[in-house]
Amino acid sequence: MPTATPSAPSPVIIDAVTRHVRLDIHDPAFYRDPLPTYAALHAACPTFFWEEPGQWFFTGYDQVNALLRDRRFGRQILHVATREELGLPDPTPHLADFDRLEHHSLLELEPPAHTRLRTLVNRAFVSRHVEALRPEIAALCHRLIDGFKNDGSVELLKTYAEIVPVTVIARMLGVPLDMAPSLLDWSHRMVKMYVFNPSLETEHDANRASAEFDAYLRSIIAWKRDNPADDLLTHMITSEKDGERLTEDELVSTAVLLLNAGHEATVHQLGNAVAAILQTGADPAALFADDAATERTVEECMRYAAPLHIFQRHALSDIELEDGISLKKGDRIGLMLAAANVDPRRFSDPSIFRPGRNEGPHLSFGAGIHFCIGAPLARLELKLSLPILFERLPAMRLAGTPVFKDSYHFHGLERLDLAW
Ligand code: HEM
Repeated sequence: MPTATPSAPSPVIIDAVTRHVRLDIHDPAFYRDPLPTYAALHAACPTFFWEEPGQWFFTGYDQVNALLRDRRFGRQILHVATREELGLPDPTPHLADFDRLEHHSLLELEPPAHTRLRTLVNRAFVSRHVEALRPEIAALCHRLIDGFKNDGSVELLKTYAEIVPVTVIARMLGVPLDMAPSLLDWSHRMVKMYVFNPSLETEHDANRASAEFDAYLRSIIAWKRDNPADDLLTHMITSEKDGERLTEDELVSTAVLLLNAGHEATVHQLGNAVAAILQTGADPAALFADDAATERTVEECMRYAAPLHIFQRHALSDIELEDGISLKKGDRIGLMLAAANVDPRRFSDPSIFRPGRNEGPHLSFGAGIHFCIGAPLARLELKLSLPILFERLPAMRLAGTPVFKDSYHFHGLERLDLAW
C-alpha cells in the first residue's frame, strides 16, 4: 500500500514493496530543495521505478558510479539499433538544425566515434591552456565586483555568476567577447530541450537558436582558418591524430557543446555555492583560508549543491541487473548524480555542508567515458570566483530567500539577492 513518506515536506510517494515512486518534478517542495526527497528515497528505495517518466532510476552512490562506467549502457542507442526496431518515430523536420548539432556532439556519441572525437578535443583542451587563464579569470572577477561593490547590494547571477563562465569559455575558444549576450541567448534556448518532454514551442525555439548558433560558428571557424591564433578553436581546427582531424560539422558541434556546457552548469554551481555558504552560516574566512581549504570548499559545494541532477543512459542490449531489474535493449535508465552525492551509505550526515569531509569524490562531473571534459576549467573558475567574492565583500549576506528555478534537471537559482 503506497504511503506518504514520514518527512512531511517531501512531495514523494513511495511504494517500497513494488519500488514504485510518484514524484512531480514541478512540485516546488521538490525542485526548490530535492535533498529531503533524496533522503526519503535512500531510506526506502534507492533504486525505483519513477511512474511519471516511466523508467527506472538509481540514487545509490555505488550503483550510479558503476552504471556511468558500465559499457552495456550508452548515452546513444542509434549506433546499435534502428528507429524502427526501437519503435521510435522518425526525426521531426522542425528539429533538423538542433538534431544536426546533436548528431556530432561528444555527449551524444559512443565508441568508436566518441573515442576518436574525444581524443582530438582532448589534444586541444589541455590543462596548460586552462591554467594559463588564471590571472585573467581573477582580474575579471575583481573587475565585475568593482562594478557593484559600492552599491551595497546586488543580484549576483546577472552581474557575476553568469558573466564569469561565458566570458571565460568565449575567451578560451577565441570567440569575440561582444558575442557573449548572443551566446547566452542561444545556449539558454537550446538547453531547455534537456528536460522530460519539452513543449513544441521549446522545440521550435531551440531549433531556431541552433540554426543561428551554427551559422555564427561556421563564419568564425572560416575566419580562424585564415587567421589562426593561440585559442581553443584554432587548436581544434589543427588538432590531429593519425592523420585524423575534426570535420567542419564536428568543430561546430563541439564548439556549441563547449559553449553551452561551459557556462550553464558553472553559472548554477557558482550561484548554488554562494547561497549554500551563506545559508549554512559557514565562516568564509575559514572556508577560503588557503588554497587547500578553498579546494575542499569547492568540492563540498559541488557535492552538496550540484547543478546537474540527472543523466540518462540507454540499455545497449537486453540486460538483467543484479537487483532484479530486467531491461530491454533501448530502455532508458536515469542516474541521479546529485542524489548519489548525498547517499548516507557513502557520506556521513550527507545533508550537512561540511568541507574537508575526506569521504571520496562526488559524482557531479559524472564518471566513465563521458566524464566532464571541462572539469579542470570549472574547478579553476570556482576556486577563483568564490574566494575573491567573499574576500572583497566580507559583510555579504542574503537579502531574501534564494529562489530556485522550476527546472529540476538544471538545479539553479532564478536570482540571488545579496546585501552588505
Ligand atoms: C560546475 C560545472 C560543470 C558540471 C557540474 C559539469 C558536469 C558534467 C557532467 C555530469 C558530464 C557528463 C554527462 C554524462 O555522463 O552523461 C559532463 C560532460 C561534459 N562537460 Fe561538463 N560540467 C561542468 C562544466 C563544464 C565546462 C566548464 C565545460 C567546458 C568548457 C564542460 C564541458 C563538458 C563536455 C564537452 C562534456 C561531454 C564529455 C563527453 O561526452 O565525452 N563542462 N559535464
